[in-house]
Amino acid sequence: MRTLNLHQLATFQVVAKHCSFVRAAEELHFSQPAVSAQIRQLEESLGVKLFDQIGRKTHLTQAGEELYLYSQKIFSVIEEALEVIESLRSPHYGRLSVAADTTVGSYVIPRLLGKFHQMYPEVEITLNVLNRAAVVEALANNRIDIAVVGRVPDDIPVVIEPFAFNELVLVAAPTHRLAGRSKVPFEEVTRETFLLREVGSGTRAALEGLFQEAGVPLKVAMQVGNNSAIKQGVAAGLGIALISRVAIDMELETGRLVILDVEGFPIIRQWRIVHLKDKNLSATARAFKLFLLQHADKRLRKQEPPRS
Ligand code: PGA
Repeated sequence: MRTLNLHQLATFQVVAKHCSFVRAAEELHFSQPAVSAQIRQLEESLGVKLFDQIGRKTHLTQAGEELYLYSQKIFSVIEEALEVIESLRSPHYGRLSVAADTTVGSYVIPRLLGKFHQMYPEVEITLNVLNRAAVVEALANNRIDIAVVGRVPDDIPVVIEPFAFNELVLVAAPTHRLAGRSKVPFEEVTRETFLLREVGSGTRAALEGLFQEAGVPLKVAMQVGNNSAIKQGVAAGLGIALISRVAIDMELETGRLVILDVEGFPIIRQWRIVHLKDKNLSATARAFKLFLLQHADKRLRKQEPPRS
């Protein structure tokens, strides 16, 4: 394979610029024989003469002129590459790819990314709101930097940090017979009809787990693929549902939904920050992880669940 020695090329560029070995040696702080030796080696490796010595004057040959043009391009690309690498050592530039599973990705992460964007406006951010399997796949294939999830992957090596509590509450339409009652026994709720999230949802798994534990069947009115449709269905009186507290701020404010006060609720789950153990996090990704940890639920450090 033919190669070009960058050190020799750099020397060539200075000789070509001055059309003088003497002035090149001065600029490079080399001896003149050292400069001549480098040019000779370069000519040998390329198999062409780069300079003509006519009397006391040094001229570029045709090959020398071509190489001079290319050497300027080569060194300007190298300069550009060094500048880009230098900028990536700072968290303020580059790309950040975040993944989160459905609920946390829709109701928690966008707000935080907004704040992060204010601090790092040049960073190009992508948020992928995915189901759990897709988050694990994106992590495993190194397509994202950081993920925030309800259930951590158990088959790939990841670093895990606690992030926030996820309170799951039972919601109903304000006209529901259990609305406004306090300390409703769980047993009474088991007679209700539920709107259930899709298979794969952690919220759904939590509700099913509870019913399984109690050994009672879950009456399902409808399976619904996302939180918005669940809220619409519950507000329309189709049934009650288990949903993350962070997903219903607006509905509680406008009175479209109410939280049922049922014994054993809210169910407390946890969101966690994860990234591949072997991944070299970029400066931007490290800054984002730190930012998330700074905004993490302080109570998690002490493992003290939120009061219901
Ligand atoms: P969720 O599921 O969308 O019901 O929160 C996420 C998970 O925990 O896997």
